[in-house]
Amino acid sequence: MDITTCLLMTEGQQECWQTLCHAFTARLAATEIELQKAHADYQQVEAQRQQLAEQLEEAQAQQQALTDAATAQARQFSETLKQLRQNQAQIVQAEKMSSLGQLVAGVAHEINNPVNFISGNLSYAKAYIQDLTKLLALYQKHYPQPTVEIQTEAEAMDIDFLMEDLPSLLASMKMGTERIQKIVLSLRSFSRMDEAEVKEVNIHEGIDSTLMILQNRLKAKSDRPAIEVIKHYSPLPSVECYAGQLNQVFMNLLANAIDALEEGIKITQHSAPSITIWTEVLNSDRIRIRIADNGPGISEQVQQKLFDPFFTTKPVGKGTGLGLSISYQVITDRHKGTLKCSSSLGQGAEFTVEIPVRSQRK
Ligand SMILES: Nc1ncnc2c1ncn2[C@@H]1O[C@H](COP(=O)(O)OP(=O)(O)O)[C@@H](O)[C@H]1O
Ligand SMILES: [Mg+2]
Repeated sequence: MDITTCLLMTEGQQECWQTLCHAFTARLAATEIELQKAHADYQQVEAQRQQLAEQLEEAQAQQQALTDAATAQARQFSETLKQLRQNQAQIVQAEKMSSLGQLVAGVAHEINNPVNFISGNLSYAKAYIQDLTKLLALYQKHYPQPTVEIQTEAEAMDIDFLMEDLPSLLASMKMGTERIQKIVLSLRSFSRMDEAEVKEVNIHEGIDSTLMILQNRLKAKSDRPAIEVIKHYSPLPSVECYAGQLNQVFMNLLANAIDALEEGIKITQHSAPSITIWTEVLNSDRIRIRIADNGPGISEQVQQKLFDPFFTTKPVGKGTGLGLSISYQVITDRHKGTLKCSSSLGQGAEFTVEIPVRSQRK
């Protein structure tokens, strides 16, 4: 209100105006207080909201941690389960091999004695027969005209043929017993399963005894030629190892190679199936054995699962899928060595075993 208007007002009007002004100011002050209070309330609510947001974030983090832990645990469980399955397979196979090994060792031992009787007595039999032959020749010389009875008997038994055949008969008996003795030796050396502790052995003997046992499978069959075994042996030091188990590895690798070659022949009419074995010293404390076949080879896909327990591409009843997984365990775990495969389809397969010369388990 400007001054002129104020001066023109009556006293009553001025009083009224002042009252109004007071009321207005009071009202303004009250509103300001309310406003301040509202602001304070707002700040409190905002603080609470922030606190809640923080709590929410914390809860979310906790939930994530829990989920992560659960996932990790589930992964661990499945890993443990896999490990258990593997261990179980190995125990079963080890048990089978150990009882088979004991059986083989027992049979070999039992055969050994009678074979030794035969081979030991064969040389005496030969000497005695030679003496008797000599005597007979003397009789024939000094009594060229024997009695009729002797003449008839000599003709009946065809004495000339008998005398001629006797030496070759003895020779083949000798050869036969020698072969049995060799087989018995191989069986004994192969089945050194009972030797639970490490021994110094000749690796070539182990491979040869395994080949001897597989001889029957290497021979020519009606539907395929013989599988040739080519050996490239280098001089090796004696190796401290679990001999029976190592022979088992050679057995698995060689048997797989034979299986693969047989399978390959069915498909492609392979004309010269062969297995090549190399042995060599890598450095003073490590040796390498390589076993290669010229069979159908192994696809990339199969190679990835090669050492998994129970993995097999063979029909039910033929393959167990345990050979390579056990071999892997024997080489890497028991001997602290390595077992590797290199192959491509159509190019055959090569398995490489490397083991330390001195046992790492002391
Ligand atoms: N020399 C090889 N050539 C081709 N495939 C092979 C050879 N050795 C192993 N394999 C493959 O590896 C698989 C697993 O071998 P293994 O563990 O010994 O089990 P199994 O012989 O009972 O099948 C075989 O089924 C075969 O497919
Ligand atoms: Mg096998």
